[in-house]
Amino acid sequence: MPDFVKIKNTISNYNRKIFVDSDKSLSIRWVLLASQAMGKSRAYNLLNSEDINSTINCIKKLGIKIVKKNNICEIYGKGINGFIYKNNITIDAGNSGTCGRLILGLLVASKKKIRLIGDKSLSSRDFSRVTLPLRKFGAKFFPQNKNYLPISILGSEYTKPINYFEKIGSAQCKSCMMLAALNAPGKTIIKAKKSRNHTELLFKNLNIPIKIKKSGAFEIIEVEGKKNFRSFNYNIPGDISSSAFFIVLTLISKKSKLIIKNVNVNPTRIGSISILNKMGANIKIINKRSYKGEILGDIFVKSKKKLKSINCPTDLNSSAIDEFLIIFLAASRAKGISFFKNISELNKKESPRLKIASKILNKMGVKTKLSPNSIKIYGNPSLKLSKKIVVKNFNNDHRVFMMSVVAALSFGGEWKIYNKNCVNTSFPSFINIAKSLGAKII
Ligand code: S3P
Repeated sequence: MPDFVKIKNTISNYNRKIFVDSDKSLSIRWVLLASQAMGKSRAYNLLNSEDINSTINCIKKLGIKIVKKNNICEIYGKGINGFIYKNNITIDAGNSGTCGRLILGLLVASKKKIRLIGDKSLSSRDFSRVTLPLRKFGAKFFPQNKNYLPISILGSEYTKPINYFEKIGSAQCKSCMMLAALNAPGKTIIKAKKSRNHTELLFKNLNIPIKIKKSGAFEIIEVEGKKNFRSFNYNIPGDISSSAFFIVLTLISKKSKLIIKNVNVNPTRIGSISILNKMGANIKIINKRSYKGEILGDIFVKSKKKLKSINCPTDLNSSAIDEFLIIFLAASRAKGISFFKNISELNKKESPRLKIASKILNKMGVKTKLSPNSIKIYGNPSLKLSKKIVVKNFNNDHRVFMMSVVAALSFGGEWKIYNKNCVNTSFPSFINIAKSLGAKII
């Protein structure tokens, strides 16, 4: 089977309702927290993707029983740090930064050395952003000053709570410290720039002692450690980050309408909708309801002929961090020059996304001005492609692949896009959903 797709036609108009795959952030957090609960937890519609399988396999290797049947997953937790495993085991986070970073938090009191590995992409991502503060809890890392995987962790019998300042707006760093705090007696205090808050909502829902105070652009989060909690069931909703590809496809295609059902529209995740609406889209969230502290809803979007450029407010960066690639595509269609700034974090994802997005846009004939932490996109509302475009060598980054498919389906041209299997990390149904809307993808 070739590892590429070919697309030669833009998508015809459609008027449809779809479901996207389940929320990746929530799925990983459910697995990790269920492993620390007392007793059997059950998830319905856990995302069935490689990142979640990596998480499940790590937790299984740490001695926790996990049973998956159809769309149900059961985890038999043994309480905080209830892991049982042999000496010198290796756990593999695969492509998942969230799994790799969050799981280290759970291991600050591990009694034996555990080696953490990941794939080529994950092995080029900085882990010092979590290993440095985790040392303050008492954990040791080997080799001592190595910032990249593979890395080994040995926990401490005498963990202590810490004060931690999270300045980047990284939910992975914040959540890692919150999970570590479960293992430390007393109060861990985290001052964190606002970012997705699923871990906080789960802690509240599980009655884990947590207090959150606002402090300007920051939040002060206090977690009281060493308090066991009961098992819990969860029905995982759809992922807004996966939805974003179909939102933009609909927006920049012709005369189409789409409803995406049952999506997690947590306010800390919907920056992409705010940004696109500021650009003139009219995306609506309907049937809003709350579920275990999260907000769920259906997303309604229709095609928009005229989009405006945007000088994107930086306070939306964190809530749109995984959606910028697809937002850049909308900006390519907009009238005027769009400017996105303070986004150097994008170059630290599964691939250097800012650089790669700029290259793809240039191949399409869209002018960009790139700096290490910003991009200007010179939009062209009448851009239609007829040339051949090949997209490869993008570190197997799922979101680069999906952005390229949406570009091909909406701007035209003859595209050959490599690494089609990389969607399996976050959104295995992506191609099938696109086909169900009428996309011709070979
Ligand atoms: C995630 C946080 C984000 C995001 C990633 C998922 C999470 O990373 O890019 O895809 O589930 O906590 P950072 O926290 O490093 O920004």
